[in-house]
Amino acid sequence: MKINVCIGSSCHLKGSRVIVEMFQDRLKNDNLTEMIELSGSFCLGKCNSQGVSIKVDDEIICGVTKDNFNEIYGKYVSKEG
Ligand code: FES
Repeated sequence: MKINVCIGSSCHLKGSRVIVEMFQDRLKNDNLTEMIELSGSFCLGKCNSQGVSIKVDDEIICGVTKDNFNEIYGKYVSKEG
């Protein structure tokens, strides 16, 4: 699995750096760093959303914030809900 966190200027202003750190921490805690490739990406073309845009494999997910991070992580990454 590949996770790209948008680090374009709009998402940067909405806190993409924090989201990257949260992914790093969670993936480490869950022992998934070997299995999941985390990287930054240029603008994903969804700047209008309320939060940061990310891409999980080929799916773009908009509006990621530190408040809904765990929910998003559970739904798309750990698939445990
Ligand atoms: S800067 Fe992130 S979607 Fe445009």
